[in-house]
Amino acid sequence: TGLATLTLSIACAAAAQQELREVAADLFRPLPSTVPAVNDNPITPAKIDLGKALFFDPRMSASGVFSCNSCHNLATGGDDNMPVSIGHGWQKGPRNSPTVLNSVFNDAQFWDGRAADLAEQAKGPVQAGVEMANTPDNVIATLNSMPQYVEWFKASFPDEDDPVTFDNFAKAIEAYEATLITPAPFDAWLNGDDAALSDIEKTGLELFVDAGCASCHGGVNLGGEGYYPFGLVEKPGADVLPEGDKGRFAVTETAIDEYVFRAAPLRNIALTAPYFHSGAVWDLRTAVAVMAESQLGADLDEDEIDAITAFLGSLTGEMPEVVYPVLPPETASTPQPTG
Ligand code: HEM
Ligand code: HEM
Repeated sequence: TGLATLTLSIACAAAAQQELREVAADLFRPLPSTVPAVNDNPITPAKIDLGKALFFDPRMSASGVFSCNSCHNLATGGDDNMPVSIGHGWQKGPRNSPTVLNSVFNDAQFWDGRAADLAEQAKGPVQAGVEMANTPDNVIATLNSMPQYVEWFKASFPDEDDPVTFDNFAKAIEAYEATLITPAPFDAWLNGDDAALSDIEKTGLELFVDAGCASCHGGVNLGGEGYYPFGLVEKPGADVLPEGDKGRFAVTETAIDEYVFRAAPLRNIALTAPYFHSGAVWDLRTAVAVMAESQLGADLDEDEIDAITAFLGSLTGEMPEVVYPVLPPETASTPQPTG
């Protein structure tokens, strides 16, 4: 009988797990195993290498100090681990830097979704006064001053007569970013590997679904798809939700979009403290409790918070292997750093 009971309980556990997996399969999608295609931008090895060089090149900023990697450090989860980023002239920007990892799967970019895709997004920071403070003309002059870059643009956009353009700069970066994807234990579990999640992670997943987190944080990135008021049920304090940043309102200028933000993508969330667009919360457990209260009006107990936090840990993926690129040397005609 002992053996029969054991066999039965294993069978029940297997059935429960299969049921959880079916529910999860409706809400989430595993990462694809290959680099995804992006709109209007065929991805080639040459373009990926060019985009990588641009991503790491601080000479794309006016001061020669800031590269994309300054604020999206691929050694620390693709962000800068600061409440808000520090950019040109030591200025503090208004928001926390989100990770670039898996950003290709977001429906739109930025906390307020104001850029449709990564190519549109990449043109922002280069010109933002508090980030890289550069101009498209100066970026193009900088690139044209280095023959190696001109060669790389030709190889990446072979059908174009004059490939060194700001559009192509952005497309190459987009191609590189599309390779920054991080398969996680949660993907292995979604794909059928029962042992990929621990018991507490599975409990956390169940709570994440049952409590209602998954209704906003779904899809491939467990977020990055829809827009919701931050403080849907109860507004968090002004430390977490500063009054001056009205989120999507600045994009749509519609009253209903005040304090509306994109449901944040949650892959690698354990690596990207501090949390929220304000970067005001350093502890992931606290961020989970803030979400439960503000978005769901739920008061989770400590065990529930632990389990959900453990589940979020299963979204930490294998980091892309990054070999630091050797960049083209500057020449006498390379514009000199300013500011
Ligand atoms: C947002 C890439 C430079 C700080 C983003 C996002 C991407 C990205 C893909 C959106 C991610 C998401 O919405 O989930 C890049 C690239 C750069 C670059 C390719 C170089 C061309 C920088 C620099 C800084 C910075 C130098 C800091 C000085 C930020 C911040 C946000 C952001 C604060 C959020 C802004 C908002 O939502 O309004 N970046 N970034 N980025 N990045 Fe960058
Ligand atoms: C942000 C988890 C429920 C919408 C976040 C963040 C976490 C999180 C950890 C911070 C992301 C970051 O800093 O990068 C959870 C959990 C939930 C839950 C565990 C369930 C207890 C919801 C629900 C909604 C929602 C139900 C929609 C009604 C958002 C939005 C943000 C966000 C809009 C961005 C907030 C900001 O602008 O800073 N979530 N979430 N979340 N979540 Fe949730």
